[in-house]
Amino acid sequence: MTATVKFGKDLTGLEGLSVEQIATVLDVAEPFKEISERPIKKVPVLRGKTIVNLFYEPSTRTRVSFEFAEKRLSADTVNISGAGSSIVKGESLVDTARNLEAMRIDMVVIRHGSSGASQFLAERIPSNVINAGDGQHEHPTQGLLDMLTMRDQLGTLAGKKVCIVGDILHSRVARSNIWGLGKMGAELAVCGPPTLIPHGIEEMGVRVLKRIEEAIEWADVLNVLRLQLERMKAGYIPSLREYNRFFGLTVGKLEKAARDILILHPGPMNRGVEIDSQVADGPHSVILQQVTNGVAIRMAVLYLLAGGSPERAEAAKGGRRT
Ligand code: CP
Repeated sequence: MTATVKFGKDLTGLEGLSVEQIATVLDVAEPFKEISERPIKKVPVLRGKTIVNLFYEPSTRTRVSFEFAEKRLSADTVNISGAGSSIVKGESLVDTARNLEAMRIDMVVIRHGSSGASQFLAERIPSNVINAGDGQHEHPTQGLLDMLTMRDQLGTLAGKKVCIVGDILHSRVARSNIWGLGKMGAELAVCGPPTLIPHGIEEMGVRVLKRIEEAIEWADVLNVLRLQLERMKAGYIPSLREYNRFFGLTVGKLEKAARDILILHPGPMNRGVEIDSQVADGPHSVILQQVTNGVAIRMAVLYLLAGGSPERAEAAKGGRRT
């Protein structure tokens, strides 16, 4: 690791991060991985900090992963879901956050259905704000954990060919992958039905592959996305069966690959739609490693936004002051 890299108050997306900042988060996550393997999974890095996990949309991986990361760093945490709070009575996002701040919090982790919600909040409250997925905009910690998982397996991201497959149009994961991987020097492609590929995506330095067979021939990594049926108001695809036939990742299609391809999926999966079980559970899948790495990445983000020194992360995990 080189000279100290500074972070701002918030993490709302990877678009605004530099190559050095992204590399620092990935590097700081490395020593934090080991904490989760200990019998007693706790270090005093964020002792005394209070963190609110404010989830307006459903989540399993991200919510639990943030909560584990916070608890393993000894922060005090509170979880608020849209359904169980005064949000259902019509309280606004800013009023909710200001009331939480009146109870003296330090950080808010927010998932929201509206693109830009985390930035909106970050500009209005002094606490650190971390975007846990906002509408169709970004999911930065997912992008970071995807990059860490690829780097673990491939050694580097520079020059690697990564194709994101499926519902690119509705995907915040695709956007964070494109910003992050592009900055780190990966070659990028997307593949899916034309109705689910955003117009002008080539301007982001991304090639468009029309057929899954082309993607399999080209890529070192396939990051397969969930069809976001809940966000689809129009008839984007004729049927799930047809989608699986043309774009679903099956063993039969993967067998034609010239070399081993790493398979990622951010979850939750629609098995038998965008990915078959034999692939999801097969030898090239690193889907559960992504989930494991998610905790270390979120620990690294929390540590760095709280003012932790990148150079002292190794010492911090041993319980020494940073
Ligand atoms: N990958 C992801 O964001 O999953 P959840 O919706 O379960 O958090």
